[in-house]
Amino acid sequence: MILVTGGAGYIGSHVVKQLLDRGFEVVVLDNLLTGYRQAVDVRAVFWQGNIQDEPALDRLFETYQIEGVMHFAAHCLVGESVVQPLKYYENNVAATTVLLKAMMRHRIAKLIFSSTCATYGVPDIGILHEELPTRPVNPYGRSKLMIEQILRDLADAYELSFICLRYFNAAGANPSGVIGECHEPETHLIPNVLLHLLGKTTHISIFGEDYDTPDGTCIRDYIHVDDLSNAHILALQQLLYGEKSATVYNLGTGTGYSVKEIIKACEAITGKKANVAFADRRSGDPGRLVASYEKATRELEWKPEYSLEDMVRTAWEWHRRHPGGYPSEQ
Ligand code: UFG
Repeated sequence: MILVTGGAGYIGSHVVKQLLDRGFEVVVLDNLLTGYRQAVDVRAVFWQGNIQDEPALDRLFETYQIEGVMHFAAHCLVGESVVQPLKYYENNVAATTVLLKAMMRHRIAKLIFSSTCATYGVPDIGILHEELPTRPVNPYGRSKLMIEQILRDLADAYELSFICLRYFNAAGANPSGVIGECHEPETHLIPNVLLHLLGKTTHISIFGEDYDTPDGTCIRDYIHVDDLSNAHILALQQLLYGEKSATVYNLGTGTGYSVKEIIKACEAITGKKANVAFADRRSGDPGRLVASYEKATRELEWKPEYSLEDMVRTAWEWHRRHPGGYPSEQ
């Protein structure tokens, strides 16, 4: 059985579906503060609860034979982390140490950790590889880097075997149309553009037009959530069947798109014209983040399959079918 914390969230729910499709048994632990019960595949066991609830973790680890943990449960908004840093250190760092302590107590020694390219900060080279120095520029990135460092110490001290996956910008939805991206409020670029094109908002804001990039807007490496999910399965297999691991992999596509290019791609797929407004830079935003995923290809035999067009198309399909997201269906 695999424990997935945060399995009712956007990325977690997609990984849960792929785990089940590949024959793994799954228990999801999620407090449903930002996740949705309807996002969790009916084949998974569901526990509503917090990762810092030690008695609940003990019960869960005593009830199920957990072979490995995938830890998604976290706050994940760069801008919010700048204005509410304690929220990030409390939930992403302190709460995670409670989960780790419970894992050590119950001798559960395999962990996949959701990390982020926000650990790199504002890099001075174009394509980021895992050996670069990590100098995060926002509390969100720092909170994830702290756990990466804690995991290294635990792996030295105990049996723990772990893989940190540094996601670039997750996008798109499972082609089934049953699960997709749903945040309240939504702050991410692709869903914001698509929700605007669906008529939900009056305009789409571009945060900063004075970055050192060809069109002045921020460049990100967008990766389909099912490509991310596939990487999780490969990483889990490495943990379960390979040698002890204490490592980190970038997950991106190696191609960057600017905010303006994303808006254009959304207009092309939907056939609708966006009403664009220019706004100030959002604090904590680096100008350009693009992955080298060569290490994941070499060691996990992973490579991304979905294009930007696939991401926008599957996301558009999801938003069209669920214009109010999950809650309106309750
Ligand atoms: N942006 C806009 N307008 C919007 C929303 C976003 O211009 O309405 C811009 C942002 O300023 C940024 C880019 O679009 O330059 C992408 O922003 P997102 O909010 O979609 O994504 P972020 O890059 O800020 O952060 C996301 C996740 C993090 C993860 C990070 C890795 O939220 O968890 O990707 O880059 F760490």
